[in-house]
Amino acid sequence: MAEFTLPKNSVVCQGKTFKAPSDAKNIRRFEIYRWDPDTGDNPHIDVYELDMDHCGPMVLDAMIKIKNEIDSTLSFRRSCREGVCGSCAMNINGKNTLACTHDMNLFMGPIKIYPLPHMAVVKDLVPDMTHFYAQYASIKPWIETQSSPPADTERLQSKEDRAKLDGLYECVLCACCSTSCPSYWWNSERYLGPAVLLQAYRWIADSRDENTGERLDELEDPFKLYRCHTIMNCTDTCPKNLNPAKAIAEIKKLLVERKLG
Ligand code: SF4
Ligand code: F3S
Repeated sequence: MAEFTLPKNSVVCQGKTFKAPSDAKNIRRFEIYRWDPDTGDNPHIDVYELDMDHCGPMVLDAMIKIKNEIDSTLSFRRSCREGVCGSCAMNINGKNTLACTHDMNLFMGPIKIYPLPHMAVVKDLVPDMTHFYAQYASIKPWIETQSSPPADTERLQSKEDRAKLDGLYECVLCACCSTSCPSYWWNSERYLGPAVLLQAYRWIADSRDENTGERLDELEDPFKLYRCHTIMNCTDTCPKNLNPAKAIAEIKKLLVERKLG
């Protein structure tokens, strides 16, 4: 019989267990996905026990403690540790979220940490964001104008127009929403996904931008936009409590209005 070789980066089995100190009284267990392409081994789960009497409250606190004190080989992205940079997005107990704002006191039992789903893994919890960022660049995330700027001031907008960007500008591009969307899992080469579509709408909704028509032309595509089937995982998972599904619906509405108009 031919030898069956399991594909790399697809099968997860048990790895090492790092026990808590014997005098620890408040132990919590962390089960963390590990994969190092340089070893040639399949992915596995390493288990780390922490004494929570000596650990901060957020999942990122625990991960930094593990990296600093137990296992320096554990790789993950982080920067601001306050929900602003979007770097520490990962799948925690089955939900995509930011490790830095995820309070461990709000749930019981072991904490299971995986990389964002359906992304290629660079190492451990670090996903390859290259394609996601290329899709973001494709929607031209900057103000485009045709008119000359005012001579003696910036391009201003009214308070009412500025308020239209609330719920959009706060997006930190963590990709939690896109990587929770089944449509994006299956069509990410061509479907832009909720994060990038929310960003696309952010510029369409900006009163200072003068390229709305061209932006809508670009999005009027069966794959780029219309692979959204209103599944709503995106809005359910967003750690910033934004509503990408609504932003996508607003784009679709503008396209219908334009057609009828
Ligand atoms: Fe992250 Fe929310 Fe922005 Fe999606 S909409 S990228 S989940 S902050
Ligand atoms: Fe996906 Fe959200 Fe649409 S989960 S299908 S982008 S409503």
